[in-house]
Amino acid sequence: MKKAQSFHPDKGSIFSRPRDDNAAIGRVDMTDIFQQYGQYVMPTYSRQPVAFVRGHGCYLYDAQGNAYLDFTSGLSINNLGHCHPAVVKAIREQAGELIHTCNLYYTEPGAALARLLSENSLGGKVFFANSGAEANECAIKLARKHGRDLAGEGKHRIITLEGGFHGRTMATLTATAQPAKQAPFKPLLPGFTYVPANDDAALAAAMNDSVCALMVEPVQGEGGVHVLTPEFLQVARELTEKHEALLIFDEVQTGLGRTGKLFAYQHGHVIPDVMTLAKSLGGALPIGAVVAAPAYADVLTPGMHASTFGGGPVPCAAGVAVLTELLAAGFMEKVCSRGEYMRRQLQALADAGLTEGVRGMGLMLAVDLPRPHAGEIVARALKQRIILNNTSEQTIRFLPPLIVEERMIEQVVEFLRTALKAH
Ligand SMILES: Cc1ncc(COP(=O)(O)O)c(C=O)c1O
Repeated sequence: MKKAQSFHPDKGSIFSRPRDDNAAIGRVDMTDIFQQYGQYVMPTYSRQPVAFVRGHGCYLYDAQGNAYLDFTSGLSINNLGHCHPAVVKAIREQAGELIHTCNLYYTEPGAALARLLSENSLGGKVFFANSGAEANECAIKLARKHGRDLAGEGKHRIITLEGGFHGRTMATLTATAQPAKQAPFKPLLPGFTYVPANDDAALAAAMNDSVCALMVEPVQGEGGVHVLTPEFLQVARELTEKHEALLIFDEVQTGLGRTGKLFAYQHGHVIPDVMTLAKSLGGALPIGAVVAAPAYADVLTPGMHASTFGGGPVPCAAGVAVLTELLAAGFMEKVCSRGEYMRRQLQALADAGLTEGVRGMGLMLAVDLPRPHAGEIVARALKQRIILNNTSEQTIRFLPPLIVEERMIEQVVEFLRTALKAH
C-alpha cells in the first residue's frame, strides 16, 4: 500500500521539483531483494544493507521513504546530484526520438558532446566508450599504436604508478599497480612497469625510449585520494617529451568538476596528450571517453578500435546536459568554495586529534583515521542515513555531489566528530 512521505530534506534545494511521492513505498521488500541478490548475482561486491528506490539532489531514498544524505555520489557519478532535472529532460527527450544506431552512422548528440569535450580540453578528437576501464583500454591501445608508428614494436612499454587504479579489464588491471587486485588473475599483460607515485628519481630510472606512455591519475582516487605533486607532474611531462612517450591522464574520477576545475590537469601547467573520462560524464548513464590532443587524434584509424554501444545518442545527450551545467557561469567557483568549506571542517577534526589530517582537491577529499576502523564508521553512518565510503580500513573518502550545501557538510562532519569520539 502506498504511504505518504512526510520528510523532505531536499525541499527548497537547487532542484525546483521536490518529490512528494514515492511510488515504491510498500511495494519493495528489502529482505526479498537481498535474498535474490544472494541467490542470483555474483558476489563481486560487499554491499551495504540497503536498497534504494529513488534519488533526488543530494539524497537517496529507501522503500520506506527514508532519506539518506549521499556523500559518495555513486562513486563520483552523480556529480550534479541524483536525477538532475536538466539531465532527466535530456534523457527523456532523446529516448523519445532515437536510442541507438550503432557507430556505422552519425548522430547529433555524439557530434555535440565530442565538440564540447574537445573545445573545453585538449582540442583534438574523442573516442566514445562505455566505462572508465574501456576508455583506458582505448588509451592503452592508442599508446601502443603510437609507439609502433614511431619506432616499431619495441616501443611498447607503459609506465603506471603504484597505488593507482585504472579499471578491471585485463589491460587496465595490469595498469592498476595494486598486487592484491591483480594476484588472482595472473598472468597479466606484458610490457607494464610500475613506479611509486611522486618519486621523480624512480620515474627517471624507469623511463627510456622503449616507453610509449606514462598513465597517471592526477589524484589517485581508489588508492585513497593521493594528490600527485606539481613537481612530479612537471618531471613526468619533461621525461615523456624527451622519450616521445604519451602522457595519459586518467581523469575518470577527477574529471568533470570533481576537483574544482572542469579537468584536474587545469589546476597546473602540465597538459596531457591524452585524457580519459567516464563516471559522471553521462549524468549517471554509462559512457566513457578518450580525448586525444590534435597530434594524436588520428593515431587510431578505421577498424582499429570499436564499441557497439559507445557514444550512443542517449548517454551523449545526457553528457551535453552535464557539460552545459558544469560550464555555466559560477558553477566551478561554487565547487571550489564548497570544497574549501568542507576541507576546513574536516581540518577541525584533525586539529581535535580525531583524524590524521585531510587531503584531496575540491570535493574529492579523504581523512585517515588514527586506527583502522573506517568500515565500522561507514556502517554506523548508514544507520544514521549518511552514505560514506572508505577506500581502506584507514581511509574515509568523500565524494559529495558538487551541488552539496554547507548545512549538509556540517551534518556529516558532526556525525564524524561524534562517531570518532565514541571509538
Ligand atoms: C581513476 C579511475 N579509472 C578507471 C576506473 C574504472 O572505471 P569503470 O568502473 O567505469 O570501468 C575508475 C573507477 O573507479 C577510476 O576511479
